[in-house]
Amino acid sequence: MPDHYAVIGNPIAHSKSPLIHAAFARATGQDLDYGRILGDPDDFAGEVRRFLASGGRGLNVTVPFKEAAWALADERSQRAEIAGAVNTLIRLEDGRLRGDNTDGVGLVRDLAENHGFRFRGMHVLLLGAGGAARGVLVPLLESGLDRLVIANRTPGKARQLADLGTLFGPVQARAFDGLEGERFDLIINATSAGLSDAVPAIPEDCLAPGGWTYDMLYADTPTAFRRWGQRHGAARSLDGLGMLIEQAAESFWLWRGVRPDTAAVIAMLRHPE
Ligand SMILES: NC(=O)c1ccc[n+]([C@@H]2O[C@H](COP(=O)([O-])OP(=O)(O)OC[C@H]3O[C@@H](n4cnc5c(N)ncnc54)[C@H](OP(=O)(O)O)[C@@H]3O)[C@@H](O)[C@H]2O)c1
Repeated sequence: MPDHYAVIGNPIAHSKSPLIHAAFARATGQDLDYGRILGDPDDFAGEVRRFLASGGRGLNVTVPFKEAAWALADERSQRAEIAGAVNTLIRLEDGRLRGDNTDGVGLVRDLAENHGFRFRGMHVLLLGAGGAARGVLVPLLESGLDRLVIANRTPGKARQLADLGTLFGPVQARAFDGLEGERFDLIINATSAGLSDAVPAIPEDCLAPGGWTYDMLYADTPTAFRRWGQRHGAARSLDGLGMLIEQAAESFWLWRGVRPDTAAVIAMLRHPE
């Protein structure tokens, strides 16, 4: 009998997670199935409990339930604790539920291992202070970077996030117009502006010569922020598909104790037959 896993979110039809985890399971010989659950906003806890009661071993959690999953977990990793959001639920041997957040590891691994970005000594700008930015804060600060600046449309939220991060590394907050005169080696877009094909209102010259841009959003055609990077001379202008697959690989490892090879799955999703 295969072990059961699923992703829960609303909407969920678009999720690539079942495809990714099925590919990981095939490649590693793990006997599991992985479905998708359209979550009921009024009964998230009930749905998780029913899934676990029917033998479910773990869940990925996506929009809009990551905060509810954080609240539901009986224990949490430190990175999930700081993020205030959980994207991976693990049923422990004693039946309790552990919450983790693999988004940040996914981002750092995609940049460092798949693309060869060296964080050490770098000045990094993180745009946004919502769930996605919170999720990547600790792994980014632990990457060896020299300085992280968080900038958000609502500056107070950037300040709150920077305050949370100070225990882990050098981090400051800015408003978008407070970035004048600064230059960054890497700019990461963790805003949802791209969903309406927009880019955050940052200064035109804040990417250092040879700098990289990374949009957490991904799409079949270049996202607005990828295009911004290309227009502003980025050495590399990446989107978040690799992050999605790397965060899935980290969840898979937490559940199964096996680390899948991600390169083949990235290639499969980037260039579907
Ligand atoms: N690749 C992956 O695996 C992955 C994982 C997680 C998330 N993501 C992506 O990350 C993005 C953000 O998700 P989230 O969960 O953090 O959303 P969220 O919690 O709703 O936060 C949205 C953020 O975007 C900012 N924002 C929205 N519209 C903007 C605009 N027009 N200009 C400037 N800033 C704007 C908001 O600023 P205010 O605070 O001022 O409202 C806030 O900081 C989404 O596109 C999502 O698809 C990707």
